Amino acid sequence: MKKKVAVISGGTNGIGKRMVLMFLKSGVKVVTFSRKKSNINQLKRELMDFKDDLICYQGDVSSIKDVNKISGSIKKQFKSINYLVNNSGTNVLSPIGKIKIKDWQRIIDVNLTGVFYLTQSLLPLLKKKSVVLNMGSLASRSGFPNWSAYCASKFGLKGFTESLREELRPKEVRVVHAEIGATDTGIWDNLEGKWDRGSMMKDLEVAHILFDSITKVKSVNIDEIFLMPPNGVL
Ligand SMILES: NC(=O)c1ccc[n+]([C@@H]2O[C@H](COP(=O)([O-])OP(=O)(O)OC[C@H]3O[C@@H](n4cnc5c(N)ncnc54)[C@H](OP(=O)(O)O)[C@@H]3O)[C@@H](O)[C@H]2O)c1
Repeated sequence: MKKKVAVISGGTNGIGKRMVLMFLKSGVKVVTFSRKKSNINQLKRELMDFKDDLICYQGDVSSIKDVNKISGSIKKQFKSINYLVNNSGTNVLSPIGKIKIKDWQRIIDVNLTGVFYLTQSLLPLLKKKSVVLNMGSLASRSGFPNWSAYCASKFGLKGFTESLREELRPKEVRVVHAEIGATDTGIWDNLEGKWDRGSMMKDLEVAHILFDSITKVKSVNIDEIFLMPPNGVL
């Protein structure tokens, strides 16, 4: 039987990386990409046992040139994909008065425009019964001081996701939006502030819930998934 295919942006770290392994273990071929060669090589080394089913590219989701190259290569290999996980994300914290224009633009470009680039380019491969998962955040529903760029990108992503869901309904493509609270991944490493990493959710558990939500049900669309650490907002 032909294997299913999942495309996951930013599958070399954190929640995305956990999902890459879950898909591979369930017999799904995975295509992933991220910017850093070192991350890609590390992923390939760790997942050597799955080398026949894992395809990795180097690319920046905020570069239309990179996205076109990657999606062109995907289209040459596959007529359709079963899962698209828009996972790549970035953040920089700063008060609105001080945020650098380049940081603002980068966050919007990666978290919002990059999702549009990848989704638009892979739309022709999203056939009946396929699923798109977009990675939103607690910051898709609440604002926080110093988080304006990230919140703007994730609120925007939510609007994009809801429109995408309605456009793809007639094609029977399911579109899922995950609103995730603090999860202990590398995204926090360079964020200014003191963060209680021990109280955050574990990326493995978050990835499990997301994976099950998009792979285990057929007649249900889980429009929204909202996951929070037991201690609430950290
Ligand atoms: N962790 C949390 O608390 C949390 C909460 C809510 C939502 N989220 C969202 O969940 C998603 C995954 O986050 P995470 O916590 O797992 O982050 P992470 O551990 O930092 O992993 C991010 C992944 O995205 C890749 N990436 C970053 N910028 C990219 C770009 N411009 N183009 C392509 N790939 C890029 C990174 O690889 P390279 O560095 O090699 O590019 C890495 O593989 C993000 O959308 C994030 O906003 C996370």
